[in-house]
Formats: sequence, C-alpha cells, structure tokens
Amino acid sequence: MPHIPQDDIATRKREHLELALNEAVRTHDAGFEAITLPYDALFEVSDSALDTHTSMAGHELSFPLMIGAMTGGSPYSTQINTDLRALTRELGIALCLGSIRAYLADKTCRSTYGADLGGIAFANIGIAELTTYSPQAIEEACLALGTKGIFVHLNYLQEAIQHGGNRKSGNGFAVLESFCRHFSLPVFVKEVGSGIGGSCAQRLAELPIAGIETAGRGGTSWVLVEALRHNPPLPKECIEALKNVGYHTPDCIRAVRQALPTRYVIASGGIETPLDAIKALAIGADAVAIAQPILRTYTDTGRSGLTHWLSQFIETARLIWRSTGARHIDELKKN
Ligand SMILES: Cc1cc2nc3c(=O)[nH]c(=O)nc-3n(C[C@H](O)[C@H](O)[C@H](O)COP(=O)(O)O)c2cc1C
Repeated sequence: MPHIPQDDIATRKREHLELALNEAVRTHDAGFEAITLPYDALFEVSDSALDTHTSMAGHELSFPLMIGAMTGGSPYSTQINTDLRALTRELGIALCLGSIRAYLADKTCRSTYGADLGGIAFANIGIAELTTYSPQAIEEACLALGTKGIFVHLNYLQEAIQHGGNRKSGNGFAVLESFCRHFSLPVFVKEVGSGIGGSCAQRLAELPIAGIETAGRGGTSWVLVEALRHNPPLPKECIEALKNVGYHTPDCIRAVRQALPTRYVIASGGIETPLDAIKALAIGADAVAIAQPILRTYTDTGRSGLTHWLSQFIETARLIWRSTGARHIDELKKN
C-alpha cells in the first residue's frame, strides 16, 4: 500500500472545498438559455399524474436528481456527509460521495463518509487511483462505505496543473477496461468540469459501464480550481485558456446520449435552476447532478436551509415538467 500523508490530502481537500465556494471557479456559461423547453399553455398533467421516478443502476429515485461528488475523508466531511445522506434519503434522490482515496489509504476515516447512514449513495475515485489499488480493494471499500457503485472521475487535465498531481496519462482506456472486468458493482464515468464529448463517449461505450455523468463546462471547473491554486501564479491568459477547454454541458448531454443510447446519462456542470434541470432531461439526460450550488446553500443556511432549497427546487422542477405536457421522462424527451 503506498504511503500517502493524510495531512497533505486533508489540507488540499479543505483548500478545494474553500476555493470551490469562490464564484471565481464557476464559469456560469453552461448555455441552457439557448435551449427553449416546450411549453403547453393548455397543459393537463396534474401533480398526482406526474411520474418522476427513475432507476439509477437499479435503485429507484423519486426524482432524477443526485447531489454530485464533493467530499469525504476529512474531519469536516463527517457532518456534511451525515446531513447529505439523511437529506437524500428523505427526498428520495441520490448522493455521490467525494473521492474514497482517503479511505483506501486510512480506514479510520470511514465515518467521514456517513458510511452507516444508508440512502442511494455512490462512491467516487480518480482514474489514477485505479492503478494504485486493486479492483477488489476498491470494491471492498465501496461496500464498507455503504455505497451501491462507483463514479470514476477522469481528471488528467486537472492533475497536470495541480501541484504534485499525477502527470501520467495515456492508457486510461486500458485502465478502465481492466477495472471494469474485475469490479462487480456498477461503474459510472465522469469528468470534473471540462465535460465528456462525442469521441470520448464513443470509446467509453465499448466498456461495460452503467453510464456517464457529463460534468461539462459551465459550472465548477476543477481545472480552474487548480489554475487558481497554482504556485507561482499563472498569467491570466493561461487561466482563461485552460478554463475554456472542453465542452459545455448541453453539448455533452447530446453527444453522450448519442454514443450510449441505452445507458444512464447524468447531466452535470452548471445546472443551477429547475429550468436547467428539466431542459437537461428533455435533451437526453436520465438524471441531473448538482454539486457546488448545494454546498454553497448548505454552508450558508445549514441542513434545514438546504432541505428547503432542494424541496423547492424539486417542486418547481415538477411544475415546469408538467407545463411541457409530459407525464413521465420518456414523454419529456420526445417533446
Ligand atoms: C467542493 C467540491 C468538491 C468536489 N469533489 C469532487 C470529487 O471528489 N470527485 C469528483 O469526481 N468530483 C468532484 N467535484 C466535482 C463535482 O462532482 C461536479 O462534477 C462539478 O462540480 C460540476 O458540477 P457543479 O457545476 O454543479 O458544481 C467536486 C465539486 C465541488 C464543488
């Protein structure tokens, strides 16, 4: 087992959390405004007739929403994940935990992932870790943390900018292929703010993955987080260039849906409003994931504030969905 100084990981994770709350790392340009959602002024779908259920990797959600991967492994993660797990259980939505790398290196941090609190929770890991830990060790960790599967994040660009980050890339497809072959829980693949486009999605479609989370451009950019943490500071032209690499979220949704017509597509990256969420579903996603706006609301207003925010978000999304005249997700996509 490699020795990873836990203090280093914890410090970086805390810095990441703090920086992720800084609006400078969000580009706010996902581009959902350019999409017009169908609207039926005569809509006749009552609230009780609307069916928003979805099955994510075989697990039923009452609304197609997931809290995106954010935290785990540090003392300050315990309360956040405890509250997020409870909330997702109450609302019938999913949760993706932050990277389980810290747990793989030190099993004593198990409670920081809210491991015993149930709910439809998924684990998360960076692709670099798949060459450090065996699929068996990762699967054991997923089960020990009470999760139903794993989201592998592709973050070569972020790591290449990060101080002390992993500079190795080039055989990611083979690494993923080998991992999938030896791992028996559902595997999703995601990005971290630059998005998954058509050619990458076509290659991923060759793997037995359950689905893809887009993590496209337009919301929190992890490349931007690292570019802003860079020491010595990067010239602003370089920061600007790096933050504009990749695909906007609506383009990712369409490309990923086309490449994987029958697998689960989760739209993420700059989903800020209930209208963005319904547009994402209408253009091909099966569910949406939101990360930073949830952490921001939680930090500003606590668990009760976040419960209110999410309840209102879902209620408004349901109303907008009904206003299209669609009774369930298949009709919403056909509109
Ligand atoms: C505070 C914070 C921590 C994050 N940590 C992780 C992580 O551990 N693993 C991962 O795959 N993505 C991580 N992300 C990325 C999100 O899961 C998501 O892909 C990205 O933030 C885009 O969504 P957003 O625009 O709704 O924030 C993190 C995001 C935030 C805001």
